[in-house]
Amino acid sequence: MTEQTKKLKIGLFGLGCVGQGFLELLPKTFSSKGEIRKICVRDIHKTRGVQFDGLTDKPEEILNNPDIDVVVELIDDADASWEIVQKALNKGKSVVSANKRMIAKHLAEIIELQQQSGLSVLYEAAVCASIPIIRNLEEYFSTDLLESLQGIINGSSNYILSQAEKQGIGISEAIHLAQKLGFAEADPCLDIEGHDAANKLCILLAHAFGHICNPESIIRIGIDKIQTEDLTWAAERDLRIKLLAKANIQPDGSVQAYCFTTFYRFGAPAIRCKR
Ligand SMILES: NC(=O)c1ccc[n+]([C@@H]2O[C@H](COP(=O)([O-])OP(=O)(O)OC[C@H]3O[C@@H](n4cnc5c(N)ncnc54)[C@H](OP(=O)(O)O)[C@@H]3O)[C@@H](O)[C@H]2O)c1
Repeated sequence: MTEQTKKLKIGLFGLGCVGQGFLELLPKTFSSKGEIRKICVRDIHKTRGVQFDGLTDKPEEILNNPDIDVVVELIDDADASWEIVQKALNKGKSVVSANKRMIAKHLAEIIELQQQSGLSVLYEAAVCASIPIIRNLEEYFSTDLLESLQGIINGSSNYILSQAEKQGIGISEAIHLAQKLGFAEADPCLDIEGHDAANKLCILLAHAFGHICNPESIIRIGIDKIQTEDLTWAAERDLRIKLLAKANIQPDGSVQAYCFTTFYRFGAPAIRCKR
């Protein structure tokens, strides 16, 4: 087997919604050259919809395993995720993560750790992976002087708003519906208060403008603030309501970034970059 066709030996953390999808799709995607050697979960006794023989609840079985060269981190705990990233890099393993909360919070440290170690931390899956946006910004816009960026980047809020508009129901009822169908978390605050969008926007600012910031510094007005009268007012004027993430470079070179609920004209592009 040549170096080019050598398979990556992967240690996976997390076997929830994203982890199971990764486990099932990896062998089916013809261009991916990786095999999962071990999976670490929180509760090894949990009943799961997928079968895997190398399951463990001990992180060191991946982190100290010389037979694993890449860690794929797909857990829902941002603090534990940050521990995993640091330990994996210290052990000489590159990391792939989907944890936007952890990445937004620790981006400056992640960049420094990558420079020190010469290893990679990749996180396309953390921000609008199906578009995709990070790779586009890096490959096609890196030589452009972008002035602004705007987009709808939180799927759960967007689903809740669409259901409220289509079915003529209030926001709380639409949240319950989204939870029932698995489109919103049991605790929907991260999505409906705009934290998730702010974390994603924080990561996008780094790739669009080279600007690193604290996600807490991004102004947020989530969809939890919407009243039934707002929905009626919008419907009467053929407007939609959307949670938009937006950033502009100011004349003095500073960056203004915010995630806010706003009236929106149907047909506008989902993501727009202006140069
Ligand atoms: N769901 C999406 O559409 C989506 C999209 C993009 C990015 N993401 C990000 O992807 C990550 C995973 O999301 P998800 O929806 O797959 O979450 P999930 O369904 O809640 O699954 C979380 C998984 O993490 C495991 N876990 C939690 N803490 C752990 C720890 N300390 N050590 C080892 N395993 C641990 C859990 O183990 P048990 O199974 O034993 O409980 C579970 O398998 C999150 O960061 C999320 O923000 C999700």
